[in-house]
Amino acid sequence: MHISLAVPILLGVSVSAQSIIDAVGGQAQLSMLALLLNAQPGLVSTLSSAQNITLLAPHNDAFNQFLSTPGGMQASAQLDVVAALLEYHVINGAFHSSSFTSTPVFPNTFLTNTTYTGVTGGQVVEVVAQNGAVNVFSGLKSKSTVTTPDLQFNGGFIHVIDTVLTIPPNISTTAMASNLSQLASAVTSAGLLSAVDSTPNITVFAPTDAAFAAIADTVKGLTTNQLASILEYHVVPALGYSSALKTGNLPTLEGQQVNVVVDGGSVKVNNANVVMADVIVGNGVVHVIDTVLSLPGGNNTGSSTGPTIGSNGSSPSMAGPSSGTNSSPNSSANATMGSAGFVDFKFTVVQNPPSNKDKLLKLSYAAATQFS
Ligand SMILES: *[C@@H]1O[C@H](CO)[C@@H](O)[C@H](O)[C@H]1NC(C)=O
Ligand SMILES: *[C@@H]1O[C@H](CO)[C@@H](O)[C@H](O)[C@H]1NC(C)=O
Ligand SMILES: *[C@@H]1O[C@H](CO)[C@@H](O)[C@H](O)[C@H]1NC(C)=O
Ligand SMILES: *[C@@H]1O[C@H](CO)[C@@H](O)[C@H](O)[C@H]1NC(C)=O
Ligand SMILES: *[C@@H]1O[C@H](CO)[C@@H](O)[C@H](O)[C@H]1NC(C)=O
Ligand SMILES: *[C@@H]1O[C@H](CO)[C@@H](O)[C@H](O)[C@H]1NC(C)=O
Ligand SMILES: *[C@@H]1O[C@H](CO)[C@@H](O)[C@H](O)[C@H]1NC(C)=O
Ligand SMILES: *[C@@H]1O[C@H](CO)[C@@H](O)[C@H](O)[C@H]1NC(C)=O
Ligand SMILES: *[C@@H]1O[C@H](CO)[C@@H](O)[C@H](O)[C@H]1NC(C)=O
Repeated sequence: MHISLAVPILLGVSVSAQSIIDAVGGQAQLSMLALLLNAQPGLVSTLSSAQNITLLAPHNDAFNQFLSTPGGMQASAQLDVVAALLEYHVINGAFHSSSFTSTPVFPNTFLTNTTYTGVTGGQVVEVVAQNGAVNVFSGLKSKSTVTTPDLQFNGGFIHVIDTVLTIPPNISTTAMASNLSQLASAVTSAGLLSAVDSTPNITVFAPTDAAFAAIADTVKGLTTNQLASILEYHVVPALGYSSALKTGNLPTLEGQQVNVVVDGGSVKVNNANVVMADVIVGNGVVHVIDTVLSLPGGNNTGSSTGPTIGSNGSSPSMAGPSSGTNSSPNSSANATMGSAGFVDFKFTVVQNPPSNKDKLLKLSYAAATQFS
């Protein structure tokens, strides 16, 4: 029996000539999306001529749910906010659903407006195949699941999703919403809030509230500058999504390096475990860790009395409860480092280091090469 080859060949090369607007318009479940797009002629024109894109298209129930929240209602009333939200649903690159695996990927989206993102090249989403489904994680680790994959149009693919994506908020908002309030308050006390929220392309290793609680007494004894140094040691000035993390050292804003060990599915940063990876934030990514990192050079055996700060940055005293004198300008206070697991650090006077562009650029370069 001979079967004509024409049919399979035609199917094999079949490419939809349908525009993105026609493709969305042809789906009853996407009528609300069509309505929203209708009010955005600029975006529609961009999308219509775009090649190799993937649209994550929330279905009507998803938008109805979004609009039933106060935030959603408020957002939907502002065309510019809706524009940003829709841009975040458009991925650079044509991704067939079968291209996603259990290893997460972090493609850039069309959301490049600096009001909403400090991630160069466009804010990202995390996409991963889990238990036979394709899941998309956005801000605050919100999960959307693909319900209808691989609708074709002439510029790529549309995947229908069951919830509207969340534009990743800044780090302080994310911290407050994610049980990281101690970190938020420490960053505020250290005067680093605006730097941490506005420096582009950063990776933050964020200790849980429990991790901070474990060293509460120590933190109380710290000067602002000491606290700032420690917090800066948790910030890597480059984008380190889990897909880019590998075993090795990474430079931090503080100047010293953290050691990352990737072992199968688990990631350690110095002596801390990453307990939640890849919380996407406005200007980068947060990995939640279970221990506050101590600066290198310290004695981490947890002596009950604890050393005090040394007489200068390069050589902290390890002598226990001696009186450290300090010649640095803002360092009149003695820090008592009594708590286990967090006993010493380099003493540095820090004056808004992230505003020091040269230092940041150099560090960013060093950090970015680690991730490349
Ligand atoms: C689209 O993707 C294909 C295959 O990856 C590539 O060859 C082509 O250059 C891309 N086109 C554009 C406009 O980026
Ligand atoms: C960026 O977002 C702001 C606030 O929504 C808006 O006013 C502005 O027009 C946007 N810029 C662009 C280029 O879309
Ligand atoms: C942010 O990271 C991207 C990709 O790694 C890089 O191309 C860009 O120059 C960085 N932007 C800034 C402001 O550092
Ligand atoms: C925050 O912590 C509370 C109390 O420990 C817990 O019940 C809640 O699930 C946590 N929320 C998140 C988002 O982790
Ligand atoms: C972070 O976002 C919140 C909510 O939008 C805003 O109130 C706050 O000012 C932002 N922080 C900075 C430093 O921009
Ligand atoms: C760290 O401190 C403990 C307790 O004071 C001491 O026994 C230990 O020898 C110290 N270790 C180093 C490397 O200094
Ligand atoms: C700091 O301590 C080191 C090691 O003890 C010493 O070599 C250096 O001269 C000291 N620096 C200052 C500024 O006191
Ligand atoms: C820290 O030092 C700077 C400059 O030396 C000074 O302007 C600032 O007031 C000092 N801050 C504190 C808290 O002493
Ligand atoms: C630092 O500690 C020494 C010894 O306990 C004490 O004499 C000194 O007053 C303390 N300095 C400050 C600023 O607390």
